[in-house]
Amino acid sequence: MAVSRRDKADFYTQKAHREGYPARSVYKLEEINSAHRLIKPGDRVLDVGAAPGSWTLYTHRELLKGNGRIVSVDLNPLSLDPVPPTVTEITGDAFSREIRARLVEEGPYDAIISDAAPMTTGNRIVDTSRSEYLAEQVVLLAQEQLRRHGNMVIKIFQGGGEQEILKKMRGIFSKAKAFKPKASRDDSFEIFLIGLDRKA
Ligand SMILES: C[S@@+](CC[C@H](N)C(=O)[O-])C[C@H]1O[C@@H](n2cnc3c(N)ncnc32)[C@H](O)[C@@H]1O
Repeated sequence: MAVSRRDKADFYTQKAHREGYPARSVYKLEEINSAHRLIKPGDRVLDVGAAPGSWTLYTHRELLKGNGRIVSVDLNPLSLDPVPPTVTEITGDAFSREIRARLVEEGPYDAIISDAAPMTTGNRIVDTSRSEYLAEQVVLLAQEQLRRHGNMVIKIFQGGGEQEILKKMRGIFSKAKAFKPKASRDDSFEIFLIGLDRKA
């Protein structure tokens, strides 16, 4: 029997609730990481656009297994109670001069993960260009702050210059590809760009 869009959304939302995650987005990172092994225990991870905190909590629990460091930055505070002991929370615009300087102070990183997304307006051109801006900023940060052999994942709305960004990532990483997790809503136009093994 075909699973309806609504059933799929409810399935992941309820599973997140049962497992103590604030958002269903956790299952996207789970899928991305099991396909590509971005993060290992002991890593220093930067999570951009981290609120409400599912990716951060999953990274703490399942990927670092409590061993490592996560710097989690968002315009909004995390809704994790308690905030895990491996996490340094920074609230503000990741790309403002002041917050960016703090991210640099906390770096460099073994992995940068970004699920950052703009507030959507419903106007696809506006939304994709804002998403493209965020993705480009994360790539710039990675060029500066990602260690050799480090990995990255960034979200971008399709139609927002993802081919250009992927091309740029191919110059930075040994391997770069686009990935659409099954846990993404069927009607979502998001896609994830993955960069593996930062070159020297
Ligand atoms: C889809 S949510 C992230 C969900 C998160 N990965 C989780 O699992 O809980 C997108 C987030 O990007 C954040 N964001 C958008 N622009 C940002 C910016 N310039 N700096 C920091 N965070 C930003 C939003 O505030 C929002 O919380």
